[in-house]
Amino acid sequence: MRILFTGGSGKAGKHSINYLFEQGHSILNLDQVNLGHPKVLTRLADITDAGQVFDIMGSYAHYDELAHGTGVPKFDAVVHFAAIPRLLMTSDNECYRVNTLGTYNIIDAAVKMGVRKVIFASSETTYGVCFADGEVKPDYLPIDEEHSTIPEDSYAMSKVVNEATAKSFQRRTGIDIYGLRINNVIEPHEYAEDFPAFMQNPDLRRRNIFSYIDARDLGQMVQKCLQTDGLGYQIFNVSNDDHSVGLTSEELINRYYQNVPVRSNEAPKSFYSNEKAKRLLGFKPEHSWQDYL
Ligand SMILES: NC(=O)c1ccc[n+]([C@@H]2O[C@H](COP(=O)([O-])OP(=O)(O)OC[C@H]3O[C@@H](n4cnc5c(N)ncnc54)[C@H](O)[C@@H]3O)[C@@H](O)[C@H]2O)c1
Repeated sequence: MRILFTGGSGKAGKHSINYLFEQGHSILNLDQVNLGHPKVLTRLADITDAGQVFDIMGSYAHYDELAHGTGVPKFDAVVHFAAIPRLLMTSDNECYRVNTLGTYNIIDAAVKMGVRKVIFASSETTYGVCFADGEVKPDYLPIDEEHSTIPEDSYAMSKVVNEATAKSFQRRTGIDIYGLRINNVIEPHEYAEDFPAFMQNPDLRRRNIFSYIDARDLGQMVQKCLQTDGLGYQIFNVSNDDHSVGLTSEELINRYYQNVPVRSNEAPKSFYSNEKAKRLLGFKPEHSWQDYL
């Protein structure tokens, strides 16, 4: 497929681009920073500037495309990851502005330019646990896509708004728009760097509901979304199958979640359910911290 990928120079995006490139897709990266990939061009642009977004949505993806003399082809899909990716990076209102306006511009341009599939990065933070002031516990375990989304911080608020924006664009156009509530992204080198501390002190993972997503498995998730048509508007949790700490589910429930209802007959392997992604898309995470430590 011919794909416009936004935010592909960042932590999550670069691994997803590598994964998608290996599957044979033609990719153009829109970012404010050059990705430096030998076969994936980066166009430097600001997603909050609609003019730049529309221009690049109708642009060549590579010099090779000049060869045919048939003009600019259409993108088959847009994968939108560009964002201020957490709180405490910019002012709160700037984070909210960039993420909401940027996402509006990307989806608006995509539908007006005839793109039939949009995949966008939402976040685990929408569930209100991650960046809460003090401790907020999940309403129930495992957290699935039906769990309430009432966060307190501007970053997560921007993601909730983006989901509403995406749902409205989908209703008007009937295209496929899939939002990914991505858990904490882990790059391969971070297992050795960070996980020993998580084993020693599981408290460090409470705000992530003890979950994580391998950056390469996130790439697989995007690929599954590209391959699966006709689901309309969908939201998917994206996480690996196991906890990111060395405790069992029973031990974690005893220590952290004694009064939280568990909606499952047996103790769940992860408290962040990826069951919907597995069922509707065939997502199958392949990496685990246990392969590295
Ligand atoms: N990293 C995580 O654990 C995590 C978890 C959940 C969701 N997410 C979401 O996944 C996406 C990618 O996150 P990441 O961790 O790779 O972040 P990142 O900061 O590493 O990458 C984001 C990229 O977006 C680009 N960008 C920012 N503002 C832009 C603008 N105005 N115009 C164009 N490009 C712009 C940046 O240059 C950067 O390359 C984000 O939407 C983030 O909210 C990340």
